[in-house]
Amino acid sequence: MKHTEILWDEAKDFIDVCYQELGMESQINARLHAIKDEIDRTGSYVHTAEELEHGAKMAWRNSNRCIGRLFWQSLNVIDRRGVNTKEEVRDALFEHIEIATNGGKIKPTITIFPPEKNGEKQVEIWNHQLIRYAGYETEKGRVGDPASYELTAVCEKLGWRGKRTDFDILPLLFRMKGDGQPVWYDLPQTLVKEVPITHPDIEEFADLNLRWYGVPIIADMRLEIGGLSYNAAPFNGWYMGTEIGARNLADEKRYDMLKKAAAVMGISASLNTDLWKDQVLVELNKAVLYSYKKHGVSIVDHHTAANQFKRFEEQEQDAGRKLTGDWTWLIPPISPASTHIFHKSYDNTIVKPNYYYQDKPYQ
Ligand code: ARG
Repeated sequence: MKHTEILWDEAKDFIDVCYQELGMESQINARLHAIKDEIDRTGSYVHTAEELEHGAKMAWRNSNRCIGRLFWQSLNVIDRRGVNTKEEVRDALFEHIEIATNGGKIKPTITIFPPEKNGEKQVEIWNHQLIRYAGYETEKGRVGDPASYELTAVCEKLGWRGKRTDFDILPLLFRMKGDGQPVWYDLPQTLVKEVPITHPDIEEFADLNLRWYGVPIIADMRLEIGGLSYNAAPFNGWYMGTEIGARNLADEKRYDMLKKAAAVMGISASLNTDLWKDQVLVELNKAVLYSYKKHGVSIVDHHTAANQFKRFEEQEQDAGRKLTGDWTWLIPPISPASTHIFHKSYDNTIVKPNYYYQDKPYQ
């Protein structure tokens, strides 16, 4: 099938559902005629602002791995399809961080850049998240976040130089169409809200010198709506505590803090049957939730998030839509069986619009 035929098919499916959901069924025929005509003339079509906004929301609603989907309708959609220069992209990314952070009361936000044109990316973001810590392999061992080893090396090859603390914030890194290399820009410190991790009753936790950034802004996924590919469309929600406390700071291949946390807690880390890892995980996760709350940064615990997801399931049923989900991702990494999610199964069919992984431009 020709790519314009695929595009037309995808456009039809999307416009149908989108306009029905928006109560605009009377406009479907006219809009489809216009799109058909536009595809015939130009080889593609352009979404209206309304289609773009609702499409991005639907894509969130269809994100099988996301437990936070109850709030899909509240997504703040920023339309930046008009950008032409690297400065405009940079400023739009800075603005995303500022608007989404919102002084700590995080706003789920997506910034949508121009879609691919004839398969060519207009803007190519190289960051995994807009805010992320660098990682270095040194003679003295790991520094920072091992998940960022490769990207950090790419940044340094391009002339950026990290301070080599465990929490250096990587620069923005993106490439404009026609440019051979990406450009990088350091994030202004004032833009990035970070939270030092302390524990409500175990003072020694502060000695671990842990911190994390406030807003997770995924920047490397492709948003597909009605056959158009928005390869650059960074989006964020707020953190669920376990992402930080049970994974980023705990995984052996990330910050690997469980033994060190056991040490400051004064508990022995030698007997599996003591369940010291489990004990440390609980305290570390309490510390994360407590610290974000203390610093006025939105966060949700996994029990509340699971309850919200239950409401999403009911909401979808009431709307007459089939629920899809990925059980392996929806269950939280601590106490999974204490949530309802653990005790049922989910249909992992991929429904469009959706967010997709894409190949990394480096590698
Ligand atoms: N798990 C990722 C991280 O720890 C973030 C993924 C998106 N999370 C979210 N709450 N929207 O950085």
